[in-house]
Amino acid sequence: LEMKIFFKTKAEIDKMRDVNRIVAEILNLVEERCKPGVSTAELNEVADRGLKKLGALSAFLGYATPPYPAVLCTSVDHVVVHGIPRKDVVLKEGNIIGIDFGAIKHGFVGDSARTVMIGQVSDEARKLVEATKRSLDLAIERCVPGNRLQDIGWAVQSFVEPLGYSVVRKFVGHGIGRAMHEDPQVPNYGEPNKGLRLKAGLVLAIEPMINAGGPDVELLDDGWTAVTRDGALSAHFEHSIAITENGPEILSR
Ligand code: MF3
Ligand code: CO
Repeated sequence: LEMKIFFKTKAEIDKMRDVNRIVAEILNLVEERCKPGVSTAELNEVADRGLKKLGALSAFLGYATPPYPAVLCTSVDHVVVHGIPRKDVVLKEGNIIGIDFGAIKHGFVGDSARTVMIGQVSDEARKLVEATKRSLDLAIERCVPGNRLQDIGWAVQSFVEPLGYSVVRKFVGHGIGRAMHEDPQVPNYGEPNKGLRLKAGLVLAIEPMINAGGPDVELLDDGWTAVTRDGALSAHFEHSIAITENGPEILSR
Protein backbone atom coordinates (compact mmCIF):
# COMPACT_ATOMS: atom_id res chain seq x y z
CA LEU A 1 0.00 0.00 0.00
CA GLU A 2 2.97 2.28 -0.48
CA MET A 3 2.39 5.63 -2.09
CA LYS A 4 4.97 7.22 -4.38
CA ILE A 5 4.40 10.87 -5.18
CA PHE A 6 6.65 12.51 -7.78
CA PHE A 7 6.84 16.24 -7.08
CA LYS A 8 7.66 18.27 -10.19
CA THR A 9 10.34 20.93 -10.60
CA LYS A 10 9.56 24.22 -12.38
CA ALA A 11 11.30 22.88 -15.51
CA GLU A 12 9.11 19.76 -15.43
CA ILE A 13 5.98 21.87 -14.96
CA ASP A 14 7.04 23.87 -18.05
CA LYS A 15 7.01 20.61 -20.05
CA MET A 16 3.68 19.60 -18.56
CA ARG A 17 2.23 23.00 -19.51
CA ASP A 18 3.40 22.41 -23.08
CA VAL A 19 1.77 19.02 -23.47
CA ASN A 20 -1.40 20.12 -21.69
CA ARG A 21 -1.73 23.09 -24.06
CA ILE A 22 -1.64 20.62 -26.93
CA VAL A 23 -4.37 18.63 -25.18
CA ALA A 24 -6.49 21.79 -24.80
CA GLU A 25 -5.94 22.81 -28.42
CA ILE A 26 -7.00 19.37 -29.65
CA LEU A 27 -10.06 19.37 -27.37
CA ASN A 28 -10.96 22.76 -28.91
CA LEU A 29 -10.75 21.22 -32.40
CA VAL A 30 -12.88 18.26 -31.33
CA GLU A 31 -15.43 20.49 -29.58
CA GLU A 32 -15.85 22.58 -32.77
CA ARG A 33 -16.85 19.38 -34.58
CA CYS A 34 -19.42 18.34 -31.97
CA LYS A 35 -22.51 18.95 -34.10
CA PRO A 36 -25.62 16.90 -34.97
CA GLY A 37 -24.85 14.27 -37.65
CA VAL A 38 -21.19 13.82 -36.68
CA SER A 39 -20.13 10.35 -35.46
CA THR A 40 -17.90 9.82 -32.46
CA ALA A 41 -15.48 7.98 -34.80
CA GLU A 42 -15.11 11.24 -36.77
CA LEU A 43 -14.30 13.07 -33.52
CA ASN A 44 -11.59 10.51 -32.85
CA GLU A 45 -10.17 11.22 -36.33
CA VAL A 46 -10.05 14.95 -35.57
CA ALA A 47 -8.09 14.25 -32.39
CA ASP A 48 -5.74 11.85 -34.18
CA ARG A 49 -4.98 14.42 -36.92
CA GLY A 50 -4.37 17.03 -34.19
CA LEU A 51 -1.75 14.80 -32.56
CA LYS A 52 0.10 14.44 -35.85
CA LYS A 53 -0.07 18.18 -36.57
CA LEU A 54 1.15 19.16 -33.10
CA GLY A 55 3.82 16.44 -32.80
CA ALA A 56 2.52 14.54 -29.78
CA LEU A 57 1.58 10.93 -29.03
CA SER A 58 -1.66 9.56 -27.63
CA ALA A 59 -1.71 8.76 -23.92
CA PHE A 60 -4.84 6.61 -24.39
CA LEU A 61 -4.26 4.39 -27.44
CA GLY A 62 -3.26 0.91 -26.24
CA TYR A 63 -3.55 1.89 -22.58
CA ALA A 64 -4.20 -0.83 -19.96
CA THR A 65 -6.00 -4.17 -20.49
CA PRO A 66 -7.93 -4.65 -22.68
CA PRO A 67 -5.91 -2.03 -24.62
CA TYR A 68 -7.96 1.13 -25.11
CA PRO A 69 -8.61 1.19 -28.90
CA ALA A 70 -8.76 4.95 -29.67
CA VAL A 71 -7.09 8.30 -28.92
CA LEU A 72 -10.26 9.95 -27.57
CA CYS A 73 -12.99 8.92 -25.15
CA THR A 74 -16.49 9.93 -26.27
CA SER A 75 -19.15 9.48 -23.59
CA VAL A 76 -22.68 10.32 -24.71
CA ASP A 77 -25.58 11.02 -22.27
CA HIS A 78 -25.72 8.16 -19.72
CA VAL A 79 -22.14 7.09 -20.54
CA VAL A 80 -20.07 8.28 -17.57
CA VAL A 81 -16.54 7.92 -18.99
CA HIS A 82 -14.39 5.87 -21.40
CA GLY A 83 -16.95 5.63 -24.23
CA ILE A 84 -15.19 4.17 -27.28
CA PRO A 85 -15.64 6.17 -30.53
CA ARG A 86 -17.88 4.41 -33.07
CA LYS A 87 -19.09 5.12 -36.60
CA ASP A 88 -22.61 4.16 -35.56
CA VAL A 89 -22.80 6.57 -32.63
CA VAL A 90 -23.95 9.77 -34.31
CA LEU A 91 -24.57 12.97 -32.34
CA LYS A 92 -28.09 14.36 -32.21
CA GLU A 93 -29.47 17.67 -30.99
CA GLY A 94 -30.08 17.37 -27.25
CA ASN A 95 -27.18 15.01 -26.51
CA ILE A 96 -24.40 15.81 -24.09
CA ILE A 97 -20.99 14.30 -24.83
CA GLY A 98 -17.93 13.99 -22.63
CA ILE A 99 -14.74 14.31 -24.67
CA ASP A 100 -11.65 13.12 -22.79
CA PHE A 101 -8.18 13.34 -24.31
CA GLY A 102 -4.61 12.61 -23.26
CA ALA A 103 -1.27 13.24 -25.00
CA ILE A 104 2.43 12.65 -24.36
CA LYS A 105 5.31 14.99 -25.28
CA HIS A 106 8.81 15.55 -23.79
CA GLY A 107 8.11 12.42 -21.70
CA PHE A 108 5.15 13.99 -19.88
CA VAL A 109 1.43 13.31 -20.06
CA GLY A 110 -1.39 15.83 -20.33
CA ASP A 111 -5.02 14.89 -19.58
CA SER A 112 -8.23 16.91 -19.81
CA ALA A 113 -11.93 16.44 -20.49
CA ARG A 114 -15.06 18.50 -20.94
CA THR A 115 -18.75 17.88 -21.58
CA VAL A 116 -20.24 19.53 -24.66
CA MET A 117 -23.95 20.20 -25.27
CA ILE A 118 -25.23 19.41 -28.77
CA GLY A 119 -27.56 22.19 -29.93
CA GLN A 120 -30.46 22.89 -27.60
CA VAL A 121 -30.45 20.47 -24.66
CA SER A 122 -33.01 19.95 -21.90
CA ASP A 123 -32.83 22.21 -18.83
CA GLU A 124 -32.00 19.08 -16.84
CA ALA A 125 -28.97 18.32 -19.02
CA ARG A 126 -27.74 21.93 -19.11
CA LYS A 127 -27.98 22.29 -15.33
CA LEU A 128 -26.03 19.06 -14.81
CA VAL A 129 -23.27 20.12 -17.20
CA GLU A 130 -22.99 23.60 -15.68
CA ALA A 131 -22.91 22.23 -12.12
CA THR A 132 -20.22 19.68 -13.01
CA LYS A 133 -18.07 22.39 -14.59
CA ARG A 134 -18.57 24.61 -11.55
CA SER A 135 -17.64 21.75 -9.22
CA LEU A 136 -14.29 21.43 -11.01
CA ASP A 137 -13.66 25.18 -10.65
CA LEU A 138 -14.42 24.95 -6.91
CA ALA A 139 -12.11 21.95 -6.57
CA ILE A 140 -9.30 23.79 -8.37
CA GLU A 141 -9.67 26.77 -6.00
CA ARG A 142 -8.78 24.43 -3.12
CA CYS A 143 -5.42 23.53 -4.75
CA VAL A 144 -3.36 25.77 -2.51
CA PRO A 145 -0.28 24.66 -0.52
CA GLY A 146 -1.32 23.90 3.06
CA ASN A 147 -4.79 22.66 2.16
CA ARG A 148 -5.40 18.90 2.19
CA LEU A 149 -6.24 16.38 -0.49
CA GLN A 150 -9.80 15.69 0.70
CA ASP A 151 -10.60 19.40 0.55
CA ILE A 152 -10.69 18.86 -3.23
CA GLY A 153 -13.29 16.09 -3.12
CA TRP A 154 -15.25 17.90 -0.44
CA ALA A 155 -15.47 20.96 -2.68
CA VAL A 156 -17.08 18.83 -5.41
CA GLN A 157 -19.36 16.75 -3.17
CA SER A 158 -20.60 19.61 -0.99
CA PHE A 159 -21.56 21.59 -4.10
CA VAL A 160 -23.28 18.92 -6.20
CA GLU A 161 -25.10 16.79 -3.61
CA PRO A 162 -27.40 19.59 -2.38
CA LEU A 163 -28.43 20.04 -6.03
CA GLY A 164 -29.69 16.42 -6.01
CA TYR A 165 -26.78 14.99 -8.02
CA SER A 166 -24.43 12.20 -7.05
CA VAL A 167 -20.68 11.80 -7.20
CA VAL A 168 -19.32 8.74 -9.01
CA ARG A 169 -17.16 6.72 -6.58
CA LYS A 170 -15.85 4.04 -8.89
CA PHE A 171 -13.51 6.43 -10.78
CA VAL A 172 -11.29 9.13 -9.32
CA GLY A 173 -8.80 11.79 -10.37
CA HIS A 174 -5.08 11.17 -10.10
CA GLY A 175 -1.57 12.48 -9.89
CA ILE A 176 -0.06 12.94 -13.36
CA GLY A 177 3.46 13.30 -14.73
CA ARG A 178 5.63 10.87 -16.68
CA ALA A 179 2.76 8.41 -16.22
CA MET A 180 -0.90 9.25 -16.80
CA HIS A 181 -1.92 7.73 -13.49
CA GLU A 182 0.39 8.56 -10.59
CA ASP A 183 -0.27 8.73 -6.87
CA PRO A 184 -2.19 10.14 -5.17
CA GLN A 185 -5.72 9.19 -6.15
CA VAL A 186 -8.00 12.22 -6.10
CA PRO A 187 -11.58 11.23 -5.19
CA ASN A 188 -14.43 13.63 -5.92
CA TYR A 189 -15.77 13.13 -2.40
CA GLY A 190 -14.20 13.50 1.02
CA GLU A 191 -14.20 15.38 4.28
CA PRO A 192 -12.76 18.82 4.88
CA ASN A 193 -9.26 19.09 6.38
CA LYS A 194 -8.33 15.43 5.84
CA GLY A 195 -5.71 13.62 3.83
CA LEU A 196 -2.34 14.46 2.33
CA ARG A 197 -1.08 18.00 2.83
CA LEU A 198 -0.91 19.77 -0.56
CA LYS A 199 2.40 21.32 -1.52
CA ALA A 200 4.03 23.10 -4.44
CA GLY A 201 5.19 20.71 -7.16
CA LEU A 202 2.21 18.37 -6.88
CA VAL A 203 0.44 18.01 -10.25
CA LEU A 204 -3.07 16.56 -10.22
CA ALA A 205 -5.68 15.62 -12.80
CA ILE A 206 -8.97 16.55 -11.11
CA GLU A 207 -12.00 15.06 -12.83
CA PRO A 208 -15.46 15.19 -11.29
CA MET A 209 -17.91 12.69 -12.80
CA ILE A 210 -21.40 13.72 -11.69
CA ASN A 211 -24.64 11.78 -12.21
CA ALA A 212 -28.14 13.23 -12.39
CA GLY A 213 -29.39 10.03 -10.68
CA GLY A 214 -27.60 7.58 -8.39
CA PRO A 215 -23.83 7.13 -8.14
CA ASP A 216 -23.59 3.54 -9.40
CA VAL A 217 -21.91 2.71 -12.69
CA GLU A 218 -21.76 -0.44 -14.76
CA LEU A 219 -19.08 -1.56 -17.20
CA LEU A 220 -20.17 -2.74 -20.67
CA ASP A 221 -18.83 -5.92 -22.29
CA ASP A 222 -16.24 -3.93 -24.30
CA GLY A 223 -14.32 -3.66 -21.01
CA TRP A 224 -14.26 0.15 -21.09
CA THR A 225 -17.59 1.92 -21.51
CA ALA A 226 -18.89 2.94 -18.08
CA VAL A 227 -22.61 3.79 -17.93
CA THR A 228 -24.92 4.91 -15.15
CA ARG A 229 -26.70 1.88 -13.67
CA ASP A 230 -30.03 3.76 -13.59
CA GLY A 231 -29.63 5.17 -17.13
CA ALA A 232 -29.60 8.79 -15.91
CA LEU A 233 -27.36 11.46 -17.48
CA SER A 234 -23.75 11.95 -16.41
CA ALA A 235 -21.25 14.77 -16.98
CA HIS A 236 -17.45 14.96 -16.69
CA PHE A 237 -14.86 17.75 -16.69
CA GLU A 238 -11.13 17.36 -16.10
CA HIS A 239 -8.11 19.64 -15.85
CA SER A 240 -4.46 18.94 -15.11
CA ILE A 241 -3.46 21.35 -12.32
CA ALA A 242 -0.05 22.29 -10.94
CA ILE A 243 0.00 23.35 -7.30
CA THR A 244 2.45 26.25 -6.97
CA GLU A 245 3.51 28.65 -4.20
CA ASN A 246 1.08 31.10 -5.82
CA GLY A 247 -1.83 28.64 -5.86
CA PRO A 248 -3.27 26.50 -8.63
CA GLU A 249 -2.14 26.77 -12.24
CA ILE A 250 -4.50 25.17 -14.77
CA LEU A 251 -2.06 23.57 -17.22
CA SER A 252 -4.71 22.26 -19.65
CA ARG A 253 -6.14 25.54 -20.90
N1 MF3 B 1 -8.98 10.90 -18.29
C1 MF3 B 1 -9.09 9.47 -18.17
C2 MF3 B 1 -8.34 9.01 -16.96
O1 MF3 B 1 -7.70 9.76 -16.37
C3 MF3 B 1 -8.69 8.85 -19.41
C4 MF3 B 1 -8.27 7.42 -19.41
S1 MF3 B 1 -8.86 6.71 -20.80
C5 MF3 B 1 -7.82 5.49 -21.27
O2 MF3 B 1 -8.41 7.91 -16.53
F1 MF3 B 1 -8.28 5.04 -22.35
F2 MF3 B 1 -6.62 5.92 -21.45
F3 MF3 B 1 -7.77 4.64 -20.30
CO1 CO C 1 -7.65 11.59 -16.00
